[in-house]
Amino acid sequence: MKIAAAAISVSGHSRRRRPAGVSFTGTGEWYRREADKVRRGGVDNGHTAATFLDYPRCWIIEFHKGGHPMAADEVAPPGVDISTPSIARVYDFMVGGKDNFEVDRLVARRALEIAPDGLEAGRACRALLRRAVRYLAAEAGIRQFLDIGSGLPTETNVHQVAHQVDPAARVVYVDNDPSVLVHGHALLAGDGTTALIEADIRSPETILEHPVVREKLDFTQPIGLLLFSVLHHLNDGEDPGGVAATLRDALPAGSHLAITHFWDPAEEHPETSSRVVEAERVFNESLGTGRWRRRAEIEAFVGDFELIEPGLVPLAEWRPDGEAVAEQKETYYTMLAGVARKR
Ligand SMILES: C[S@@+](CC[C@H](N)C(=O)[O-])C[C@H]1O[C@@H](n2cnc3c(N)ncnc32)[C@H](O)[C@@H]1O
Repeated sequence: MKIAAAAISVSGHSRRRRPAGVSFTGTGEWYRREADKVRRGGVDNGHTAATFLDYPRCWIIEFHKGGHPMAADEVAPPGVDISTPSIARVYDFMVGGKDNFEVDRLVARRALEIAPDGLEAGRACRALLRRAVRYLAAEAGIRQFLDIGSGLPTETNVHQVAHQVDPAARVVYVDNDPSVLVHGHALLAGDGTTALIEADIRSPETILEHPVVREKLDFTQPIGLLLFSVLHHLNDGEDPGGVAATLRDALPAGSHLAITHFWDPAEEHPETSSRVVEAERVFNESLGTGRWRRRAEIEAFVGDFELIEPGLVPLAEWRPDGEAVAEQKETYYTMLAGVARKR
């Protein structure tokens, strides 16, 4: 990590005024190593400042206004805040994308310490997305998709998979992260079949009533609702169950819901559960969200839709198609995937 610091202080016990900004606090080896990197990068180039405080049992690394952990040549696109990590950009890093910043990679590296196979997990997420969308288009006959929490454009996006089956298939991408909007042109097929809107899933009615959604999607015909890795970014108090129900209710019969979600497999794989508790702590500290839910909680998001075979299963087990099968490493039992049909 290349950090240029205008102000670096190492202090035994005196607590300095805490500047506003990203702050990582903890006691582990990770903090010690990152703090060392901050110290080593301590030169002032007028762009950034990092303050580092060393307590006997607690390390605090603070990146404050104009002091985010950025490579010297990082430039934020207009409207994009790179002093705070973003879910979309951390995930972009995990799936091998390039639209992320040092502040995001810092969070990703923390996650990788808990789950060293995190990059494989990212690839498994995108592979699952491709298989599920292909199934919906090729086997379930779905020709229109509402992809909420669509993420940054990456190697193969939903419309590209759907267009392999039918070039006229329509896709509306929805995300609330300005970074996605900045790079979203790559999500547009250029022929009117695709659109991208900025909206928040916590207000599902706004999405359902959005003029672009109404223009592109015909709510009298089956729709593929894609909730890939988004509901686990809603805390329990944000009513993810109500959000999912509102979206499901708006769809006509024959529609499908495809979902992936962080999974706490406490009952089935208790050895993995402690790892997800740690992951949940790291995500919430750095991103403010991240819920690893039990199987029954995830099943509830599907409501009375009928789960198609093989049901809710680890990603690699959902209709594998010959792509390299993931080994059962750290993250294998930490996510579930499923596709369900509205009768
Ligand atoms: C982990 S990424 C998943 C991207 C993609 N769906 C996939 O599975 O490959 C989660 C995405 O959900 C978006 N997101 C998180 N909270 C959201 C919200 N409240 N409303 C809309 N999008 C949200 C993030 O910005 C991010 O792009």
